[in-house]
Amino acid sequence: MEPVTSQALPPLLKWAGGKRWLLPYLRPLWAQYVNHRLVEPLGGGLAITLGLRPRRAWVNDINPHVINFYKWVQQGLELPFSDSDHNEQAFYRHRARFNALIANGEAMSKEAAQLFYYLNRTCYNGLCRFNADGLFNVPFGKYKRVRYARSFPAHEKAFEQWAFTCGDFEQMTGLTPEDFIYADPPYDVEFTKYSKDGFSWEDQKRLARWLAQHEGPVVISNQATERVKELYTSHSYLIFEVPGPRRISCNGDRSPAPEVLAFKNVDLPSEVFEMLQAAKLSTSAFFSGRPKE
Ligand SMILES: C[S@@+](CC[C@H](N)C(=O)[O-])C[C@H]1O[C@@H](n2cnc3c(N)ncnc32)[C@H](O)[C@@H]1O
Repeated sequence: MEPVTSQALPPLLKWAGGKRWLLPYLRPLWAQYVNHRLVEPLGGGLAITLGLRPRRAWVNDINPHVINFYKWVQQGLELPFSDSDHNEQAFYRHRARFNALIANGEAMSKEAAQLFYYLNRTCYNGLCRFNADGLFNVPFGKYKRVRYARSFPAHEKAFEQWAFTCGDFEQMTGLTPEDFIYADPPYDVEFTKYSKDGFSWEDQKRLARWLAQHEGPVVISNQATERVKELYTSHSYLIFEVPGPRRISCNGDRSPAPEVLAFKNVDLPSEVFEMLQAAKLSTSAFFSGRPKE
């Protein structure tokens, strides 16, 4: 069998809700599954999958532009941008060209992938937002300096045996009990009917149900709202609450916002269990379950 490479790679894109900070919890667990396929049904910036760097992976996202970008990276994407592209005028010219490609049915082209990368680096906060006509509408980011990569050889190599698909997670059929799923949905925004990114509470329930019927290992991360904790408990996940990196500043409260890490069908290594227990002690935490004997 081919030796398993464990060299972590950084995300290529800025992405809302990146989960790189969860890697210390997941690395020792993944070590037991390195020869399995890692499946990320809501991949986004891929902080976890790139950080664990499996030999085989299946990455899915409903956003066609991010998947198109990864597919071109897999084929050896080269980028034509330099420091001189980092100004407001160039940004709006590139944004207009990207939107023209979308309007002309060329959103899956190599040029669209190059421009998507440029816009992600240069736009305000790395946001990925489209108007009702499907056109990218994030303004210029006003960063002092942005570094543009010219190519991604390490990622191209890592992607050799990775599959990329675009669609709703439930369209992913053909999973086997050998597949290790890591799912990171958009945050649940409790008390809000219309949640961010169009991912409703119904979608959160649909995802929890869909993952619960997977016979192999499943890990989910999400914001630790009361209803998320109840939902995962109702599907018999082993759940931990851990302090996230985000800081809430209203009322002067600077404490990290709690997140949930939920596990199913895994042998949780004692090292991970202890880390999660210790993290829990530093918050007013919620915890249910025990590691498998
Ligand atoms: C919180 S982000 C994932 C971030 C990722 N874990 C990281 O570290 O960068 C959630 C992702 O879910 C995707 N998404 C939203 N609804 C989806 C759906 N119904 N099916 C598949 N992906 C979806 C979004 O496009 C977004 O990229």
